[in-house]
Amino acid sequence: MIKMQRIARKWSEQMAAIIDGKKISAEIKEEVKQEAALLAEQGRTVTLAVVQVGNDPASSVYVGNKKKACEYVGFQSLSYELPEETSEEELLRLISELNGRKDVNGILVQLPLPEKISEAKVIQAISPDKDVDGFHVQNVGRLSVGAPGFVSCTPAGIIELLKRSGILIEGRECVVVGRSNIVGKPMAALLLAENGTVTVCHSRTKNLAELTRRADILVAALGKPKFITADYVKKGAVVIDVGIHRNAENKLCGDVDFASVEPVASAITPVPGGVGPMTIAMLMVNCLKSAQREEGVR
Ligand code: GUN
Repeated sequence: MIKMQRIARKWSEQMAAIIDGKKISAEIKEEVKQEAALLAEQGRTVTLAVVQVGNDPASSVYVGNKKKACEYVGFQSLSYELPEETSEEELLRLISELNGRKDVNGILVQLPLPEKISEAKVIQAISPDKDVDGFHVQNVGRLSVGAPGFVSCTPAGIIELLKRSGILIEGRECVVVGRSNIVGKPMAALLLAENGTVTVCHSRTKNLAELTRRADILVAALGKPKFITADYVKKGAVVIDVGIHRNAENKLCGDVDFASVEPVASAITPVPGGVGPMTIAMLMVNCLKSAQREEGVR
């Protein structure tokens, strides 16, 4: 019996803590719901305009989930489902109208857009005060100089996951794999703002494993299924998996090979149920923030 217990303890010591994004995102949505109820008592409704151009099935799922989350926390969502043939000019006209509406707190244009529409132009057309995705250059600039503004939801969600799991960032080696505008770059800026020592790796990085093995906190956002194996991870590291892929058997997996890395890590996010649910929770936080800002403060 004693031997059994010893084996059990030894085994449990080797297991990484699973960072439960589903639970933490649910807590955040509850907090947002309470704040939205306080605004409702003053007769104020938080409103998010969700714009989708075309009917890409993956985008439709994401957009549907965003609208569901709005309903759950007590926000109003305005849905704009535009046909694939919509011109850039028509989309810009809609954004201009939504920018001018006092009752709209947030504007989200689901990406990707059809090829003939410039994503950069569309993102820059959204008022920075309603840019709840945090993609506008003004918000990106604010993040880089440490000024308040909207922050991209996925990296903001990762910081919440770390903080709410009691994981210290300050002074620790943080390695981000991936340099996208939506995740990698803002992730690096946020970890730096938390006083982490940050390295950003990407597809041209030489000796990737050498760098990732230095990480106390490793964020995998490179977009390649199961790329990060145990060879890339230092014993005891915290591993955050941003990837989401569907394999041939229709099963979801991340950028991290969970089965290989989990015995090496001290904590790890699963896919699904890790980073994914945090993105929408942080979108709700951004919409709430937008509504809570007093006029004239913007
Ligand atoms: N497409 C994939 N992720 C996102 C996101 O976070 N925001 C928007 N607007 N489009 C996306």
